[in-house]
Amino acid sequence: MAADVPDAVVLALPTQPADDGVAVLGESVPDLPELLRRESAKGEAGEVLAFPQAGEGGPERLVAVGIGDGSPVALRKAGAAVARRAKSSASLAVDLRGVALDGDRLRAFTEGALLASYGYTRKQNGAPRALQTVTLVVADPAELQPALDRAVAISRATAAARDLVNTPSLEKTPDWLGASAARLLDGLTVTVRDEAALARDGFGGILAVGQGSTRPPRLIEATYDGGGNGRHVVLVGKGITFDTGGLSLKPSDSMVAMKTDMGGGAAVLGALRAVADLGLPIKVTALVAAAENMPSGTAQRPGDVIRHYGGRTVEVLNTDAEGRLVLADALAYADRDLAADVIVDVATLTGAMPVALGKRHAGLFASDDVLAEQLLAAAEASGERAWRMPLVEDYRQALDSPIADLRNIGQPKLKLQGGSITAALFLREFTGGRPWAHLDIAGPGRSDADDDELTKGGTGYGVRLLTRWLEALSA
Ligand code: BES
Ligand code: MN
Ligand code: ZN
Repeated sequence: MAADVPDAVVLALPTQPADDGVAVLGESVPDLPELLRRESAKGEAGEVLAFPQAGEGGPERLVAVGIGDGSPVALRKAGAAVARRAKSSASLAVDLRGVALDGDRLRAFTEGALLASYGYTRKQNGAPRALQTVTLVVADPAELQPALDRAVAISRATAAARDLVNTPSLEKTPDWLGASAARLLDGLTVTVRDEAALARDGFGGILAVGQGSTRPPRLIEATYDGGGNGRHVVLVGKGITFDTGGLSLKPSDSMVAMKTDMGGGAAVLGALRAVADLGLPIKVTALVAAAENMPSGTAQRPGDVIRHYGGRTVEVLNTDAEGRLVLADALAYADRDLAADVIVDVATLTGAMPVALGKRHAGLFASDDVLAEQLLAAAEASGERAWRMPLVEDYRQALDSPIADLRNIGQPKLKLQGGSITAALFLREFTGGRPWAHLDIAGPGRSDADDDELTKGGTGYGVRLLTRWLEALSA
């Protein structure tokens, strides 16, 4: 086969395929309507039919993919379906000329295809990703090029975030995460506070969570300054490189997936990479509060009182509610030192969140309605779904401690439940009244199976949503 002939040609078809023959990369496939009829093709989003091709010098396969109503949601599904089906092909040409395209639709299709072709393996003879080249055939390439560039940058950044999440904790120490952040964000200013610097500067929450591990904690800080109107956005990510629960030890089944407890940190690092690659005119700092939560002779104990950055004290009644402890330091730092104009944190914070919303929606908490609307719009547009949750003021009393400024879990005697809400209320205490939002991604941060554009394991949830939001904010 000639080098420039793809292994497979994909034809994107709307729900009702036209029956007057369709041009495929300049060639006519007059029998396609009949083939589709025989296969009872409906054209539903993501429906895939593959037809082997025998002709000399042509592609080995013709693939038809349904695009349903042609919406971005449907095209994202279609892109993912094509990429999955084409995994054995090294190259792919997709004819999108029959589709009513705009930037958003092209972007959705491309992101679906690129994100679904992500793979992670640590097998001895692990195969590299099969799909190497995707050619998109569109009517007006020049007009769509910017959307394509954005899709590629965001998919790359999401893949980088997934790699961080999927890395086993044997390798993934807080120090490793700092070094990986510096590597990923090559060209930006990245500083990593080690345990001595954390002690010097008073980051008592990060230190307390990390003190049970032989692998000391870190605070990762990275800034991209693209100018703009001088507004400073601070993104904060939970970076627990493994969460055993500490002395409030988790049952073994609950611990299995806890290498992914730094998914929020991965998301803010990935988003910063994408924002820099897109050259957005805005200033963004990413903070990742990184620690390994381990039980040991040096671990913090239930009943300990710790002092956070900025001086607030917290009575630690459950060492498994550790995410809020590391985040509190980072939020206080964003408020007091970075003079953030807006703060958004991303965290695999509470097991209660997927109980409420399932595995595909993040819980969005916000102190500011405008910010909440912006983030919900970005969630909708990016395909990373979120649902707004209430900051119920009545529940704040559940965090009162008789001996410290706060307790780290809601007082069970009050029987208020709503563990995701009390966790969010705890975080709010450290934001200094600045516009702030919190994404609890305990559900969507990882996936148990390949599903549309998601791949089993870390999803990189947050990269697409945050980048979309920052695109709109800086436009
Ligand atoms: N990392 C967990 C939350 C989590 C659970 C994420 C399941 C993803 C899947 C967090 O640190 C945690 O342990 N939270 C506790 C809080 C509780 C002790 C108040 C929880 O949700 O059980
Ligand atoms: Mn925990
Ligand atoms: Zn955790």
